[in-house]
Amino acid sequence: MHTETPIYTALKEYSKQGPLRLHMPGHGGGGGFIDHSLKQIADIDVTEVPGTGDLHVPEGAIEQARILLAKAFGGRESLFLVNGASSGIHTLLMSLNRKQKKVIVPRNAHRSFYAGMVLSGVEPIYVPCQTSSEYGLAMSVRSSDIVELLDANKDIETVFITSPNYYGITCDVAEICTEVKKRPVSVSVFVDEAHGGHFPFHDSYPRPALQSGADAAVNGLHKTLPVLNQGACLHVQDEQYFWNQVFPAWSMLTTSSPSYPILASIDLARSFMMIQGQAVLEKSLELSNKYKQKIGEIRGLSVCAEEELINIPGTAEMDPLKLLIGVGGISITGDQLAQLLRQEYSIQVEMAAPNYILAMLSMFHHAPDWELLYEALKEIAGKYPGNKDKKKDVPLQPEPQVRLTPREAFYSNAVEVDFPCCRGKISAEVIAPYPPGIPCLLPGELISENVYEYLEFLKKGKISLYGPGDSSLTRVRIIDN
Ligand SMILES: Cc1ncc(COP(=O)(O)O)c(C=O)c1O
Repeated sequence: MHTETPIYTALKEYSKQGPLRLHMPGHGGGGGFIDHSLKQIADIDVTEVPGTGDLHVPEGAIEQARILLAKAFGGRESLFLVNGASSGIHTLLMSLNRKQKKVIVPRNAHRSFYAGMVLSGVEPIYVPCQTSSEYGLAMSVRSSDIVELLDANKDIETVFITSPNYYGITCDVAEICTEVKKRPVSVSVFVDEAHGGHFPFHDSYPRPALQSGADAAVNGLHKTLPVLNQGACLHVQDEQYFWNQVFPAWSMLTTSSPSYPILASIDLARSFMMIQGQAVLEKSLELSNKYKQKIGEIRGLSVCAEEELINIPGTAEMDPLKLLIGVGGISITGDQLAQLLRQEYSIQVEMAAPNYILAMLSMFHHAPDWELLYEALKEIAGKYPGNKDKKKDVPLQPEPQVRLTPREAFYSNAVEVDFPCCRGKISAEVIAPYPPGIPCLLPGELISENVYEYLEFLKKGKISLYGPGDSSLTRVRIIDN
């Protein structure tokens, strides 16, 4: 069963038959491309013709592949996504009916949550994030905070959390599900598990959301599996909810011309992971254990280890393939370290900030790749000894006061005003100090006295900001009402 790849096989069969392609796409099977690599992909870049199936109609090869996908991930029902994990998040938010419009979401949710809330009209109830003082990052949400919000808002029926976060750190999804399921009214737990698509295939990796009791999960497969960019999937445990609410929302949001190469890559990756995933992930785990220790022993650097998470409430486990490397004991910043890695060692890391870098390894990085990173880090750390204070402690953010839903704010008129005039108004933009990247303002939220003072602090401290049109905060966009 695991060797079956219905979509990929159907596409190869069509290619083998070699009919004259008088149909879309316009590249005519690749003849229109001058680049060889594009020509190769074009061979299976087809459309809905007999044999290839229609993504929106659950039958044939696509339906068989969908069932295999659900089995592999432990979902009752699954869907292929060709517009990234973002489209799964949009779909789940759009699947909620009028009675389910209040949703608990983490304050540091990915921006696709915001888009999903604009599309669906959901009213967010934000759960605060626990941060790590060492890295200055948002790490998790606590089950006790979720329970508190459910107590205060008896009409909430959905909690939508993110686990793992971008840095590979998971929340205690099992505990959250247990607590939420104790409630007198039924509350669903959805999980943005965009970075955890590989978790179901090895027991020593963090426990997957569905196995922890989640009602739905979204995996950004292209992030961690051998899947083309944009390939992702969505799983739902309640069949009735899936067919009545999720499938129609997904179909409405999904292109009528899906990329068959993306679908084929998901099909192949599912088969690969079912057959070889355990062995390949085991090798990566061994490499991770070895090199996390070696890098952690380099003078001046530290590597975030699962054992440390005990100090951050609400966290549970850490993906071994994410290397969060602290630079507290060397005299350059994480950004400078990343630049040196790129310029002098031809190593590009996923991201960098003043006090850390994040390296994302995959199942397809072998010992020489880990060794290359280790040797480069050792050499650079040796050249830049010493301690330079890179921490910019940002004080606790004031509580958000939502005045308009994201949808109402999105459809309101906005104007730009001088900073002092934004006091007491409603924000029309996102303002998030980075790190930790947790917004202190989202569109539709009141710029209260406390928030105004906090913005003044960010402005004076020249804290780097994500979101505002004018990052100096000389001018701020507010809702014009
Ligand atoms: C936590 C999280 N969720 C969702 C997404 C959206 O994923 P995609 O780029 O596949 O749409 C991202 C993207 O980086 C992410 O980090």
